[in-house]
Amino acid sequence: MTVQTLPDRGHDRLVGQWGRPPRGGPAHSTHTLRCVDIASPADMAAALRSVSYLPDDGVATAAFLALVMQRPLFCEGEPGTGKTALATALSQALGLPMVRLQCHEGIDASQALYDWDFPRQLLHLRAVEASGADVQEGELYSERFLLARPLLQALRLAPCVLLVDEIDRADDEFEAFLLEVLAENRVSIPELGEITAAVPPLVVLTSNRTREVHDALKRRCLYHWVDHPDLEREVAIVGERLPHVNAELARQVALATRALRSIDLLKPPGVAETLDWACALHALGRTTLDVQSAAATLGAVLKYREDSDKVTQLGLDGLLLR
Ligand SMILES: Nc1ncnc2c1ncn2[C@@H]1O[C@H](COP(=O)(O)OP(=O)(O)OP(=O)(O)O)[C@@H](O)[C@H]1O
Ligand SMILES: [Mg+2]
Repeated sequence: MTVQTLPDRGHDRLVGQWGRPPRGGPAHSTHTLRCVDIASPADMAAALRSVSYLPDDGVATAAFLALVMQRPLFCEGEPGTGKTALATALSQALGLPMVRLQCHEGIDASQALYDWDFPRQLLHLRAVEASGADVQEGELYSERFLLARPLLQALRLAPCVLLVDEIDRADDEFEAFLLEVLAENRVSIPELGEITAAVPPLVVLTSNRTREVHDALKRRCLYHWVDHPDLEREVAIVGERLPHVNAELARQVALATRALRSIDLLKPPGVAETLDWACALHALGRTTLDVQSAAATLGAVLKYREDSDKVTQLGLDGLLLR
């Protein structure tokens, strides 16, 4: 075992559990676990880079600590800075399946945890009645009619990566419910009993900070603010994700996107927009970014009319010279 162990809190034992399929765990938990190879933030950075995710030191350290401390990682940041992609990269880098819970306004436990397949229950009920047999209530609330939603799937599938995406879109009640599930790593289904994760899933929560997430949830998590990358890393990300794009064009686009971020825009562009912009220019056969090609492709990087107007008024030539 090469995993770094931390004193006093039994992390070595916990991390050790990640290194082998859980005893008595479900048969599908046979993924090749690569967590044991990750003994430092540098190892984590290398693992993420190997799946084309280029983290800065802060992200690599936060992800490493989340892994060894078995604590959820709460990533906040501007749109398009790689929060969701981090969870996907972790699952690929660690060789773990990923379960995604996409949060939205009004999401509740039946959408996040489990529900009963009502139409199938009804069909079953009719079929049993038609055969003249007695209906056993227990039959209707059995595994056969259970719809496992992402949280339950993750508890059963663990070790896995559980992405709770855009938690800021959910409401307070859901947050409290999620807190409970994350704290216990266990759910109780009255009709079926308790379901406990063999090991806690590696949880990544993301938020665009459209509202403040409560302290109680934050307290349970490791927090990391995901910033826009610096110029060199952004150029490298374009190179990694779009290897067919000319290196000079990649640098010019990254520079221009940075210039756009320095203007007071309704929606400053993220890495996603840098990639789209480079892709659009490449699709038009451009190998350099000039005023004309920038004007023709502005819709790939700016998504509000007010922002496009503002940039056009300020002058694209000035922007490209920054
Ligand atoms: N460090 C990085 N390395 C490689 N690709 C990156 C990195 N950061 C961002 N990307 C790429 O940028 C794009 C946007 O990333 P992602 O969707 O994860 O952003 P986000 O922070 O989740 O945005 P939103 O808040 O809008 O959901 C993706 O294509 C992703 O792969
Ligand atoms: Mg996202």
